[in-house]
Amino acid sequence: MLIFLVGFMGSGKTETAQWLSKKTGLPFLDTDGLIVRRSGLSIRDIFEQQGEAAFRRMESELIRQYPFPQHGIVSTGGGLPCHDENMAYLNKLGTTVYLDASPEYLFFYLHQPNAAAKRPLLSGVDSSGLKAHIQKLLDERRPFYEQAAHRLTLSNPKEKPDARLSELVKTLGL
Ligand code: S3P
Repeated sequence: MLIFLVGFMGSGKTETAQWLSKKTGLPFLDTDGLIVRRSGLSIRDIFEQQGEAAFRRMESELIRQYPFPQHGIVSTGGGLPCHDENMAYLNKLGTTVYLDASPEYLFFYLHQPNAAAKRPLLSGVDSSGLKAHIQKLLDERRPFYEQAAHRLTLSNPKEKPDARLSELVKTLGL
């Protein structure tokens, strides 16, 4: 089974994918990491030197060209499902799961000091503007995320998601 985790920045896609990978023994992949490896540039450098549109093209090309294994857990960049019919494409490639984190949950993680490091979309957004920024972008993106086959709801950042993850493992039959 090839699983794609989708959702907003800060919803914990990478950590969750690594956890699922450890639990199931399936390989872990990360679209941002694959783009960095293919291009030889950091996400920040791609945005700065080539612009966001070029990064979006790389994301769309990656999911169409990369030889994904038959079984694996893939963490996807937060904007990947939201352009070029990518969500429909992911739904054809494998089983998608939306990590549906509330704006409060996202704020908790995205206002941490290192959160903007690989996230150029957060650059220049100060703490006071962050909540509104998250809400606006999430409203635009939610219709895409909601096309995922499964959903894991995350509302309390202090609650360990272990129980919900175990539930997901059961739902997915892993
Ligand atoms: C982005 C999310 C990032 C990364 C890039 C753009 C986005 O990935 O792909 O900074 O548009 O939401 P994460 O969702 O892993 O933070």
